[in-house]
Amino acid sequence: MIKFAPSILSADFLKLGEDVKSACDCGADYLHFDVMDGMFVPNISFGQCVLKAVSALSTIPCDVHLMIEGPERYIEQFAESGARVITVHAEATKHLQRLLSQIRSCGCLAGVALNPATNPEVLRYVLGDFDLALVMTVNPGFGGQKMLPAAVRKIADIRKMLDEAEVTSEIEVDGGVSLSTYKAMANNGATLLVAGSAFYGSPDRKAFGREIRKG
Ligand code: DX5
Ligand code: ZN
Repeated sequence: MIKFAPSILSADFLKLGEDVKSACDCGADYLHFDVMDGMFVPNISFGQCVLKAVSALSTIPCDVHLMIEGPERYIEQFAESGARVITVHAEATKHLQRLLSQIRSCGCLAGVALNPATNPEVLRYVLGDFDLALVMTVNPGFGGQKMLPAAVRKIADIRKMLDEAEVTSEIEVDGGVSLSTYKAMANNGATLLVAGSAFYGSPDRKAFGREIRKG
C-alpha cells in the first residue's frame, strides 16, 4: 500500500480549515506543508503560525517540507508548532548530518529532500540519519508543474541504495503527482506520494485517495 500526503499549498486559503479536514477524511497518511522563503525558491508561502493552526486541526501528522535557506535556524520552532516530519533540502545546508540529528533531537522524523538535478549519492553518507528521502520531481517553488522524467529515474537509484544498505527509510515523491503519473513513481520504489493540485483539483477527493493508495 502506497501512502499519500495532500499538499495544502494547493488548498483554498479562504477555506483552509475545510481543506485540511477534507485531506484528513480522504485516507491521507500525512498532511504536506510547504514552507518557502523566496530565497531557496522563487516563491513565498507560509510558516510557523499557519502550521500551528493547521496541526491543531489536523487528525493526521504534518509533514513539513522546508524550502528555505539555513533551515537549522527554524527546526525548533517548526517542531513546537506541530511538525511530525521535518524535511530539509541537502542543497540548503552546509552540515546535513548535524541538521538531521537536530531534527531528531526535537522529537521529529528527519527527511532529506533533493532537487531534480542533485546527485542522490549525497544520501549514502547519511544513511541511517534520516527517516525519509524526498525526491523532487519538479523544480521546487510552485504547485501544478509537470513531472520531470529524469527525476523519476532517480527514485529507482535511491530504492537500490536503500535496499542494498538494508535501510527502511521512506521514499517520498513530490511534484507532478497525478492519477496518470503516480504508477511510474510507485513502480520505481516510492512509498509516499505528495499530491497538491491533482488532489485539491479532483472532483472526488475520496476516490483520488483510494486510487493512489493502491500504488
Ligand atoms: C513544490 C512543492 C510541492 C507542491 C506540489 O515546490 O514542494 O509540495 O505542492 O504540487 P503539485 O502536486 O501540484 O505538483
Ligand atoms: Zn513539498
